[in-house]
Amino acid sequence: MRALVVDPKVPAGLSFAEVPEPTPGPHQVLIDIAAISLNRGEVVRKEAVPGTVPGWDASGTVAVAASDGSGPPVGTRVVTMNKMGGFAERRVVGVDQLSVIPESVSFVDAASLPVAGITGLGAVRAIGPIVGRRVLIIGAAGGVGRFATQFAHKAGAYVIASVGSSERGKGLDELGADEVVVGVDPVADGLDAALDTVGGPALIAAWNRLRPGGIVVSIGRAAREDTVFLAYDTPMRDNLRLLCYNHTGPITEDLDYLLSLVSRKELDTQIDFTGSWTKMEEAVLLLKDRKLRGKAVLTIG
Ligand SMILES: NC(=O)c1ccc[n+]([C@@H]2O[C@H](COP(=O)([O-])OP(=O)(O)OC[C@H]3O[C@@H](n4cnc5c(N)ncnc54)[C@H](OP(=O)(O)O)[C@@H]3O)[C@@H](O)[C@H]2O)c1
Repeated sequence: MRALVVDPKVPAGLSFAEVPEPTPGPHQVLIDIAAISLNRGEVVRKEAVPGTVPGWDASGTVAVAASDGSGPPVGTRVVTMNKMGGFAERRVVGVDQLSVIPESVSFVDAASLPVAGITGLGAVRAIGPIVGRRVLIIGAAGGVGRFATQFAHKAGAYVIASVGSSERGKGLDELGADEVVVGVDPVADGLDAALDTVGGPALIAAWNRLRPGGIVVSIGRAAREDTVFLAYDTPMRDNLRLLCYNHTGPITEDLDYLLSLVSRKELDTQIDFTGSWTKMEEAVLLLKDRKLRGKAVLTIG
């Protein structure tokens, strides 16, 4: 079958190749993939092994049901998440690594959800109750940031969306941002929480604007810069907390929830680029160059 494999020699870091067909185990299904989404964490992954098939998010149709009788039957539309193997015509996943897509949700919308949607949702939950709280989202223009903005707004927070430039912040007010700011410098002190996908000096700037008891949830390090706390940034800082967020555990319940929100038009998937996976290089370079407002989703074929 055709797949995208890790290829450090080309600018996008991915090339098309023929690879062996995957074979499902007893508790797994084989999916004919319809759409995949790109995540920064997988397209800029320095430790990716050349020749392997990356790909976390993929939607498609069950081609072979699990032989142990668990999971959905052949022909069911599903969205899947796994550590690799999604950038291909077919993938194998465990029956607990998928959700059934409601009829009203497209393969393209569904494919945008797993990593970015589950992370945005989980990171907002990790703060705790935020009704009426001031929450800063750093990297709000990105894939995770646009979902986190919507969930923080839904949860009742006053949302401050921090972006790299005013151009990048377009549309965030419609998602529920009460303020859109460039960088972190314009943000006033007294934050209850910050969700950060950028890292480096931006995280420290958010930390130093927390009110007593506040929390920074560190999700990512898009800036690829070290995060350096100075000597007086941490001692006696009135019970501030730093939580390093990583999604662990089951995904189906959260994916079902995200799909139900999309089907009720209560969650905007913010897909900024869509097209055949033959346009993969264009999409990856847009993502790497910070030119996407939200997600890139590619269709297979
Ligand atoms: N912990 C987890 O479970 C988890 C899950 C998903 C993602 N992540 C991590 O979270 C981060 C964001 O992921 P994503 O998929 O949302 O990426 P994305 O769509 O590319 O968004 C990244 C955002 O970071 C901002 N940014 C600021 N400085 C940057 C720089 N020097 N280089 C690149 N971007 C910069 C960009 O701002 P502007 O657009 O305003 O320029 C962009 O909106 C990544 O580090 C990813 O690995 C972690």
